[in-house]
Amino acid sequence: MTNTRQPAGYSTLQIALHWIIAALVIFQVVFGEDIVPAFRAYMRDTEPTADDLAAADIHVWVGIAIFVLALIRLAARVTRGAPAAPAGESAAQKWVGIVTHVVLYGVILGMPITGGIAWYLGVEAFGTIHEIGKPVIILFVALHTVGALYQHFVVKSDVLMRMLRPERRGAA
Ligand code: HEM
Ligand code: HEM
Repeated sequence: MTNTRQPAGYSTLQIALHWIIAALVIFQVVFGEDIVPAFRAYMRDTEPTADDLAAADIHVWVGIAIFVLALIRLAARVTRGAPAAPAGESAAQKWVGIVTHVVLYGVILGMPITGGIAWYLGVEAFGTIHEIGKPVIILFVALHTVGALYQHFVVKSDVLMRMLRPERRGAA
């Protein structure tokens, strides 16, 4: 499934996608409520105002962009792989890292799907599930960020740097 040689670091593509997606997800969380008035109007069978519709369009298209980038990212993850967890981590630390990354992949793939079902098919329950995503994202991005900063400043591992500097070809 994954390649046999585990890479020593991430590729330029993986790093670029990580930070572009991170910025777009933060944008979606900060401005996510902008789509609510237009969605409410549709649910009540009334016409949203032009301003509400424009705000909704931004949310929808940024969300779709995240989905497409996340698919490319997942493909890169499966074909190229990811570096090993830092040496000396306890089983519990490794587990928290794996769960956090799986949840974050779930977010960048699952939020556009639930949002899309709510918006395009008009299923209110999916809007509610999508809304529950917001505190989940805040919690796990916070945990993820604290983990990255802890690795960098306390453990002094290369975990943060390897998400900033691509693996040098042939260096491994
Ligand atoms: C990773 C991508 C996405 C993130 C992080 C995200 C995040 C959010 C957030 C934070 C809210 C506001 C929740 C609240 O009011 O408490 C929201 C609402 C909403 N989003 Fe998204 N969204 C994403 C993608 C999408 C996409 C692609 C669509 C549609 C195609 C969409 C449709 C909606 C709808 C319809 C609502 C209103 C839900 C309701 O009021 O029940 N979202 N989103
Ligand atoms: C919405 C924001 C974010 C999302 C959705 C996200 C998602 C992810 C995912 C899914 C991975 C696993 C990559 C893989 O192995 O395939 C990852 C790795 C990583 N992220 Fe984030 N991330 C976000 C924000 C951040 C922030 C703010 C930081 C730093 C302060 C950060 C630092 C890192 C680092 C250092 C790694 C590499 C971990 C390792 O090599 O073991 N991320 N991120």
